[in-house]
Amino acid sequence: MVIMAKLVTLILLLEAMVASSFPGRLSMDYYVMSCAFVEPVVRNIVNQALEDDPNLAAGLIRMHFHDCFIQGCDGSILIDSTKDNTAEKDSPGNLSLRGYEVIDKIKEELEAQCPGVVSCADIIALAARDAVFFAEGPYYDIPKGRRDGSRSKIEDTINLPFPTFNASELIRVFGQRGFTPREIVALSGAHTLGVARCASFKNRISGGQAIDPTLVDSEFAESLSRTCSAGDNAEQAFDATKNVFDNLYFDALTRNNGLLTSDQTLYTHPQTKNFVEAYAFNQAMFFFDFQQAMVRMGLLDVKQGSNGQVRVNCRKVN
Ligand code: HEM
Ligand SMILES: *[C@@H]1O[C@H](CO)[C@@H](O)[C@H](O)[C@H]1NC(C)=O
Ligand SMILES: *[C@@H]1O[C@H](CO)[C@@H](O)[C@H](O)[C@H]1NC(C)=O
Repeated sequence: MVIMAKLVTLILLLEAMVASSFPGRLSMDYYVMSCAFVEPVVRNIVNQALEDDPNLAAGLIRMHFHDCFIQGCDGSILIDSTKDNTAEKDSPGNLSLRGYEVIDKIKEELEAQCPGVVSCADIIALAARDAVFFAEGPYYDIPKGRRDGSRSKIEDTINLPFPTFNASELIRVFGQRGFTPREIVALSGAHTLGVARCASFKNRISGGQAIDPTLVDSEFAESLSRTCSAGDNAEQAFDATKNVFDNLYFDALTRNNGLLTSDQTLYTHPQTKNFVEAYAFNQAMFFFDFQQAMVRMGLLDVKQGSNGQVRVNCRKVN
């Protein structure tokens, strides 16, 4: 009798899990039996790290994007290069990626609590989500159960979008991964956090003159030149509040003060311009669209089962 009752409970539980599952068996309660405290563990360590250095929020969110766009959300961005392999993280496209130590710390704690259970890919997704919330952005639930990959090659990062891309090119490359123009604008809103270096926007100016047709504000062009006079690594914030997740990034675009070509171009294309305006006007709409787009981004080419592993050390394949 007792065994029967337990079986019934188990079946009900399994049904509940399947009901809340996403394509590829990701689910909201994936770790409920195997590592119940995964979310509070991630949140606490992210919060501590961001209290010490709020700039890391931007790093963690960007890390999730770069992870998902190359080889799917499989933790490949975390793998260190070896003598036989130059990894994704060592490509020039890794500029300003940061927060790797935060992921290491979370992994260490989770390995102590539930060894071999929580994937590095899930940790990045959760850390990015918690970073958005820490910076006063929206909170959203994410499905879990991603497995880690074992391929991380510098040459794959050619598939990241370039900051010199115009809207048509962004629509093409994001479209290949199933994203709509509206989702491109919402996801680009992550640039409400953080900075870019001169190397990423110097294509827009030459000899102090604007050469990018989307760079129409001469004072803003001067400010880019001033930053660049301190060299390729000099940083400039995307908007007035680099550690607050808000809609001022979109406000900047409507004033032609977008930092990268790939930012300002969104305000020039008929398929993206209206969303820039809508988000600049209505922060709640931006937050709503952003969380939906982030959940979708977090499902890109997710690995499952024997197709992947749970790395013990996020920096190395098992
Ligand atoms: C639309 C295509 C995108 C392009 C071309 C692009 C390009 C860039 C570039 C060039 C930088 C500055 C790197 C540097 O100079 O150090 C940057 C920073 C950043 N990107 Fe993007 N990005 C795009 C979309 C996204 C998405 C979808 C996210 C996340 C959902 C994201 C999150 C970030 C964040 C948070 C930063 C600031 C990093 C920091 O301060 O450490 N970006 N991006
Ligand atoms: C990024 O790549 C460069 C080489 O292009 C490397 O020197 C640097 O250490 C890498 N940064 C990180 C954080 O891994
Ligand atoms: C966008 O860039 C592509 C590739 O460089 C170019 O062919 C196209 O004309 C550009 N579109 C606009 C509107 O500038």
